[in-house]
Amino acid sequence: MDDKPFRPNVTGTQAPYDSPSYRSTGLRHPTQPLAPLPHTITETTGPRFSQSRFPATIDISVVGGRAAVGERIIVEGRVLDEDGRPVPHTMIELWQANAAGRYAHPSDRHDAPLDGNFRGTGRAFTDADGKYRFVTIKPGAYPWGNHFNAWRPNHIHYSLFGPGFATRLITQMYFPGDPLLPLDPIFNCVPDAGARERLIGVFDIGIAKPDWALGYRFDIVLRGRGATPVQAADEHGEH
Ligand SMILES: [Fe+2]
Repeated sequence: MDDKPFRPNVTGTQAPYDSPSYRSTGLRHPTQPLAPLPHTITETTGPRFSQSRFPATIDISVVGGRAAVGERIIVEGRVLDEDGRPVPHTMIELWQANAAGRYAHPSDRHDAPLDGNFRGTGRAFTDADGKYRFVTIKPGAYPWGNHFNAWRPNHIHYSLFGPGFATRLITQMYFPGDPLLPLDPIFNCVPDAGARERLIGVFDIGIAKPDWALGYRFDIVLRGRGATPVQAADEHGEH
């Protein structure tokens, strides 16, 4: 294990813990300054997840051989560390709304249809080069109670662990050209425009599969100057 401490985040590339426009942060942000801790084995190591105990489900566009409703998409990318090296064999989990903007979860009361062929949760492991791939359905926008007429842009929630607790990342992938992005308090909590851009998947016709699915690239960087910003789970995603 490399015992070099992880780099601190670059100012402005992560959302402040208290972001008043994202109302629920007011209920959960620390009220005391954080105490910096030296990086010991506690921070530089973390849980290891094996595919034998945590089976991968990379195609979540089909349940029991029946296709979900919506626009089938392929999302692939690489997981990289702060030095641009691939993070191999690490677990990635995702969760998302269906094409109508509804989560398959009891707490979601949005007046939009559920889809019996879409559960909205997936798990993948990066290969030796840090690459991962999912097949899913493009999620729909949905309303939330943050403010009057608030709608979340299309997004996919991601959870990654990386090599240690210091690289734990909860984030969201957004879609290019979404008109809701400039209005979304969660996306816009990240002050730095370049860092926000790293949260948007890149449309890639090279990933698209002819006559079958469109494709997006979403590379994820754990820690460092080019780190993918944290995006807290929203009220549905926390479940
Ligand atoms: Fe969400």
